Amino acid sequence: MRVLVIHGPNLNLLGERQPEIYGTQSLAEIDAALMQAGKELGVEVRSVQMSGEGGIIDHLHAARNEYDAVVLNPGAYAHYSYAIADAIASIRIPVIEVHLSNIAGREAHRRVSVTAAACAGSISGFGARSYLLGLRAARELLEK
Ligand code: DQA
Repeated sequence: MRVLVIHGPNLNLLGERQPEIYGTQSLAEIDAALMQAGKELGVEVRSVQMSGEGGIIDHLHAARNEYDAVVLNPGAYAHYSYAIADAIASIRIPVIEVHLSNIAGREAHRRVSVTAAACAGSISGFGARSYLLGLRAARELLEK
C-alpha cells in the first residue's frame, strides 16, 4: 500500500505560522510522525509540499499510477480551486482531504471546501492529528 501526502501552500511554515491556529509542530515533525505511523500501519508513505496549484495538480495526476491513495491538505486552495477539484475527480484513487484547523468554525470564506466535495472524505480540526487520521482512513478504505 502506497500513500502520497501532499501539503499545499504555506504549510512549509508550520510551527512558526499562526501557532495559535495551526499548532507548534513543524512540517518536518508532522512528516516524521506520518512516516512512523506508516510503518506501524504497513503503509509506504511519501510526502511533498507544493506552494502552487499546478504542482498539486501534477502530483495528483502522477499519483494515479504510483500510489493507492492520496492524503491532501490543499491549504487555501480548498476554498476556491475548481482546477484541483477537477484533478481529484479525474483520478480513480481515493483522495482524503485534511485540515489542521476546523474550517467549519472559521471565517466564512474558509467554511466551504470545493475540493473536499471531490474527495472520498475529509478530516478537519484535529491539528497535526488530522494527517494521521487521514492516513488511517486511507488504509481502511484500501483494505475494504
Ligand atoms: C488549512 C486551512 C486553510 O483555510 C488555510 O488556508 C491553510 C491551512 C488547515 O490545514 O487548517 O493554509 O488548510
